[in-house]
Amino acid sequence: MIGIVLLAAGSMSARAAEDFDRARALYENHCRSCHESWAHTRDGRAVDSLDGLRMRVASWSLHTGLGWTTEEINAVTRYLDRRFYQFTP
Ligand code: HEC
Repeated sequence: MIGIVLLAAGSMSARAAEDFDRARALYENHCRSCHESWAHTRDGRAVDSLDGLRMRVASWSLHTGLGWTTEEINAVTRYLDRRFYQFTP
């Protein structure tokens, strides 16, 4: 099982891969019902920096009444950055 996770993660460390999977699950369970890629890839998308993305994630966590911890907000921010925005090279 660990081998599979490591393989799937490619160059990511095991810790980062765990973080990524957890954040993906959070996003898929709570956010994807409204949007997935269209919101993050549309023309004129609202977010243009990593801090801006984190603020949006934090405010969605409030809107939806989830009350994510800072750690969860950071993890989902990293997940979305990796998947869609690529603010972090
Ligand atoms: C009730 C539906 C709904 C839910 C639930 C929802 N969103 Fe959204 N989200 C939207 C809509 C509609 C937009 C586009 C309009 C806007 O910018 O406000 C959006 C936009 C965004 C954006 C900005 C995208 C961009 O670059 O312009 C982010 C980031 C985002 N959502 C994250 C989340 C996260 C994280 C969650 C889960 C905690 C979440 N959303 C849950 C409806 C939703």
